[in-house]
Amino acid sequence: MRVDFQNWVAAHQLRFEGVLQAFLPRPEISPERLHQAMRYAVLDGGKRVRPLLAFAAGEVAGANSERVDIAAAAVELIHAYSLVHDDMPCMDDDVLRRGKPTCHVEFDEATALLAGDSLQTLAFWLLAEHRLSDDAARQLQMLRLLANATGSFGMAGGQAIDLASVGQALTLPELEYMHIHKTGALIRAAVLLGAYCGSLLDAAQMEKLDHFGKLIGLAFQVVDDVLDCAADTATLGKTAGKDAIHGKPTYVSLLGIQGAREMAKRLHGEALETLAEFDERAGRLRELADFIVLRKF
Ligand code: IPE
Ligand code: IPE
Ligand code: MG
Ligand code: MG
Ligand code: MG
Repeated sequence: MRVDFQNWVAAHQLRFEGVLQAFLPRPEISPERLHQAMRYAVLDGGKRVRPLLAFAAGEVAGANSERVDIAAAAVELIHAYSLVHDDMPCMDDDVLRRGKPTCHVEFDEATALLAGDSLQTLAFWLLAEHRLSDDAARQLQMLRLLANATGSFGMAGGQAIDLASVGQALTLPELEYMHIHKTGALIRAAVLLGAYCGSLLDAAQMEKLDHFGKLIGLAFQVVDDVLDCAADTATLGKTAGKDAIHGKPTYVSLLGIQGAREMAKRLHGEALETLAEFDERAGRLRELADFIVLRKF
């Protein structure tokens, strides 16, 4: 019998928490404070959307789940690092994340900076240390893919544009470019890495999954923009209403809340269309697409 979506999510979140625990340096190992900050930033919180996308894409590609765990952990470590740095005073200056004080508030700025750095390198170490594919060239391709998605041509580049855009009125294409990079790139990588752990898909199918990841990655940030102004701090676990206060260009500032919601809906529809030719093995990916646009936090 097929497990319903909520139970599938809960089971994977629980199991994956153990995977992350095991990969992170133990808190009593020197330098203790840095290791404690790394664990603080990663464990016990977060929706784990990117790992779930990797697991779902892995199901489509018939991947070995232990291999997908590695890829998913690498992506989540990068994501956690990005949140630690995103929250620092030099960036969004936030004090609350995942319902807890942000890493630099709980520890200190220098420790938060180093925790982010160390999470990033741990992610790449994992991909180099463990076998993810029988084909060594493909494994290298996976490393390259995550590096591109994370660096100045991906997430970090998008974050640079985000910071440079404060107080400015971006055009719709400019805003889309920013969102596709700062948030979309890593989500897209999560889908692809999950799929690359398997071997059932041909190049055309990988292309379809890549397009799905691009659409759903953009939709994810559009919904994040909506929630920033439509949800409350307790539900989000992060301070609501900060985008407007900081003068961030968002889909809400450009299109209004209704316009932004319609945009997310349109992207959702396009993402599902991209999966049309896949069989029921893409069921979890479809459900995750629904979750990403319908979520309340
Ligand atoms: C928040 O990401 C930051 C963005 C890229 C929009 P998530 O909404 O996935 O945060 P967690 O991991 O669930 O806390
Ligand atoms: C964050 O975007 C994107 C990355 C962390 C790469 P936001 O700044 O909108 O994320 P939140 O709202 O603080 O989670
Ligand atoms: Mg930000
Ligand atoms: Mg932020
Ligand atoms: Mg936001």
